[in-house]
Amino acid sequence: MEKIKVAIIGTGSISNFHALAYKKLPNVEIIAACDINKERAEEFAQKYDIKHVFTDYNEMLKMEEIDAVSVTTWNNVHAPASIAALKAGKNVLCEKPLALNRKEAEEMVKVAKETGKLLMVGFVRRFGENTKALKHMIDAGELGEIYYAKTGCLRRWGNPGGWFSDKKRSGGGPVIDLGVHMIDLVRYLSGKPKVTSVTASTFNKVGIKPEIKGVTKYYSKDYDTFNDVEDCATALIKFDNGMTLFFETSWVQNIKKDSLYLELYGDKAGAQMEPTLEIYEDKNGYLSNLEPMIDPESYSFGHNFDEEINHFVDCVSSGTECLNPAEDGVELMKILDAIYESAASGHEVIVK
Ligand SMILES: NC(=O)c1ccc[n+]([C@@H]2O[C@H](COP(=O)([O-])OP(=O)(O)OC[C@H]3O[C@@H](n4cnc5c(N)ncnc54)[C@H](O)[C@@H]3O)[C@@H](O)[C@H]2O)c1
Repeated sequence: MEKIKVAIIGTGSISNFHALAYKKLPNVEIIAACDINKERAEEFAQKYDIKHVFTDYNEMLKMEEIDAVSVTTWNNVHAPASIAALKAGKNVLCEKPLALNRKEAEEMVKVAKETGKLLMVGFVRRFGENTKALKHMIDAGELGEIYYAKTGCLRRWGNPGGWFSDKKRSGGGPVIDLGVHMIDLVRYLSGKPKVTSVTASTFNKVGIKPEIKGVTKYYSKDYDTFNDVEDCATALIKFDNGMTLFFETSWVQNIKKDSLYLELYGDKAGAQMEPTLEIYEDKNGYLSNLEPMIDPESYSFGHNFDEEINHFVDCVSSGTECLNPAEDGVELMKILDAIYESAASGHEVIVK
């Protein structure tokens, strides 16, 4: 069996989930890894038994044997690295967000079309078993017309610092880091409507809070406390199918505890996907709540990545239609750009 040969650009935290998932597939071999931090790339290569190590992805991409690449760098490198990989004839799985903004994301899609290579965006939560179950029910018409949705991902103290809080490298704070997943899920579940308008506020009030005792948080690799991104944001987002989404997110906010929620309201039934999957419907003349059983074992970050990477490899090896085409990443960047633009201007932004 001819193996799919994979390379990884950016060997920080999330690249481990990509590597672990690739390693589980018998038809895949990770042959190269690249990071601007040489020591980190070498350590990663040793851990996953990867032969070739680079500090410059352009050099790595000269390797003809590479079929596919995972781009798991800081957000500002997603577009240049993906474009270079596509132009070198590689298929690309690029982490979320697809790019820093809509313009970059559109350029990536253009290059993917020109080269005929696959560009998949890493909306990994689409591969969660709760997402799959709810999508299945929605596609079967269980909710009817979805006209309103609410989603939020709030942290009390969760600014990862380092590149995450440096706008030049991240593009923004919790909106582009956490919001991108939640807004994508709402679009994905409700049939991928297109955004028409956004009214938003962002706040930079509480800061990075580096000195809290008694609790642990995720620190980015190469941590520092530079911070010029938003702490929290709220937005009202309207779509061309008539649906309105209320969205909020924070990294740092004076709330009781962290929370994650996603709710969709249809004219036949309502659904909550986070924190638990529940359906609210009328059955036999009663208001009824349904709680579909999902194997708790499958509720993990690792499981979602395994499913995502499996799908990417399937698309590359068998030409399976991609569930996460880069065009969906562009649609998300349109919304995120509009959130930041509306917050800066104080006005509603009409999106075309
Ligand atoms: N899908 C998810 O749920 C999820 C979760 C976390 C992070 N992410 C995304 O994954 C990406 C990486 O996040 P992370 O938490 O692993 O960050 P990280 O800081 O741990 O790792 C990023 C790595 O990229 C390297 N890098 C930067 N510029 C580079 C370049 N030009 N060439 C090669 N390597 C370069 C850095 O040195 C670092 O080692 C981000 O885009 C983030 O949004 C996705």
